[in-house]
Amino acid sequence: MLCTSNIVLGKVGVISYPSSVEIVSRHPIPIGAYVAIPFKAIDVVSGNTIDYCAIGVISQTSYRRLVPTSPSTTASESIGLEDDMLRYAPSLARIIALVGIDNEGKPMIKMPNIPPPPDTQVYLAHIEILSMLFSSRKEGSIKIGHLLTEPRVEIYVDLNALAKHLFITGTTGSGKSNTVAILADRMASYGGTVIIYDVHGEYGSLMPSSNIDIVNIEYKINPLEVPPKVLARMIVPEGGATVQRMLVSKAMAEAQKLFKELIKDHGISDKAIESIYSNASFSKQELSELLESLETEAGEIDTETKLIYLFRYVVKNFIEKKYVRSRDKELYRESSLKASSKVDEFFENAALSLKTQQISNLIAPSRIIVLNVSLLSDDQKDYVLKIVLDELLWLSKHNYFIGKPCPIVVFIEEAHIFLSASRPTASRYSIERIAREGRKFGLILGLISQRPRNIDLNTLSQIQNFVFMKLVQEADQQSIMNASDLLTEDLARSLTSMATGEALIIGEWIGRFPVFVKIDKHEGKKVGTSLDIASIWRNNMRLRYTREENSSMLKEAEKEFYEIFS
Ligand SMILES: Nc1ncnc2c1ncn2[C@@H]1O[C@H](COP(=O)(O)OP(=O)(O)OP(=O)(O)O)[C@@H](O)[C@H]1O
Ligand SMILES: [Mg+2]
Repeated sequence: MLCTSNIVLGKVGVISYPSSVEIVSRHPIPIGAYVAIPFKAIDVVSGNTIDYCAIGVISQTSYRRLVPTSPSTTASESIGLEDDMLRYAPSLARIIALVGIDNEGKPMIKMPNIPPPPDTQVYLAHIEILSMLFSSRKEGSIKIGHLLTEPRVEIYVDLNALAKHLFITGTTGSGKSNTVAILADRMASYGGTVIIYDVHGEYGSLMPSSNIDIVNIEYKINPLEVPPKVLARMIVPEGGATVQRMLVSKAMAEAQKLFKELIKDHGISDKAIESIYSNASFSKQELSELLESLETEAGEIDTETKLIYLFRYVVKNFIEKKYVRSRDKELYRESSLKASSKVDEFFENAALSLKTQQISNLIAPSRIIVLNVSLLSDDQKDYVLKIVLDELLWLSKHNYFIGKPCPIVVFIEEAHIFLSASRPTASRYSIERIAREGRKFGLILGLISQRPRNIDLNTLSQIQNFVFMKLVQEADQQSIMNASDLLTEDLARSLTSMATGEALIIGEWIGRFPVFVKIDKHEGKKVGTSLDIASIWRNNMRLRYTREENSSMLKEAEKEFYEIFS
């Protein structure tokens, strides 16, 4: 076992515990560096001396002065005399493992339970020992990156452990979406099915590896497929407006029945429109006037849009009929008017389509399905997520019970919107349900957020795998410490100094110890990369000058032309 290396970093300082050791050195040791401390300890039971090698990762580093600044040191500095010995660098190493030798002379990894003595030499950990601890390439694992301080040690994550879900967090620009792209790509290359709930429309241009399939859907709400009660909640979200919601829900159910039948018979065609015209319940004249006025307003429109328009008319018509037939007219009059205008508002603003396929039809091995919901409003994103997750849980259970389980990973960007700690959302219950039940049926959550402090901790408590990227705010660091037992305060604080693409990975999927990793860069992910503002401005300025030059050239030519021909 190689516990020493060519690079001596310093010595164990005054305080040494089994799980954290102070190291004093001349120069600060960077955060994320792995150290090895060889030491001997007496086994209190047998009285034998045992060789150990403590492996730690630097989680805090600093510079200090040995003696406080005095007038004499300030004076000596001001004339350029600097005494290095007045400074030293204390660092804190979080001890992650104790490597000993078993009876057969093989290395044996133990949880740290005995501290190295003060003054012991501390070495930069040798690649051999790091590979032994971290490089767990085995069947069922995918590569995520390499050890932060040692590119030669590749880091793999275990796919089976993903059943305990995943949470990726870090400030904006820290590399979360790149991590999603790498994981999604490699999971799909392994044969998996991955769904990305793409809130900003940034994965559409993802260029995946050659052997996988990517389906990109600009997700629109299909008013014929969403359960009427869910639609009614979207349209009338106000808690107290139960009568309005009931009216919308009933009218939706009836309208869906009618439209589903005629689309089944005629498809999305002019024939379908004709068949609504001939329905005795509606005034043919009113309907054709409606479509005419629409065409005068918006020009020629396609059949699908016309059908959606008629669907809206039919829903409102049913709401009105409910009111006319009701006994308590007073109560229903106002509610039906309000419900009708909310239906109008919804149809004016929502991105709708009668063609949106159910997600379950798109599930296939080695496939990434990107659900681009960037065109929807925040409320709609919330409801659509609920619809998608409910469908996926149903599908996963179905596949499981018929003996053909089909594990699916769903990445949800901006999870703090849907799992807000401060306001109720439509999708929360569905997310929580998958967090609790998904494991059994192979439905795995990958939640992504730059604001962990705004996330409801109840859901996070079900999650056992983590990617922590740069996080600066103390409140965020505190909230992730509450979410993961393995994240100690010094490790959480060390996230302040992470660079782009660097992460602290924790959880069963990575093994027993927290690992500082440089995540691989996904070369096929272009959108979401920061704009090169400086060069765009510079180019625009050049263009402007060429335009200005051109226009002065044109003016000259114009002048010349008139001089010749006038
Ligand atoms: N591992 C990495 N190696 C190199 N560059 C990276 C890495 N991860 C991310 N980047 C780069 O950093 C930038 C931001 O990355 P990314 O979009 O993944 O951040 P993010 O955390 O998702 O940000 P946001 O919160 O704004 O969505 C991109 O230009 C990306 O190419
Ligand atoms: Mg992102």
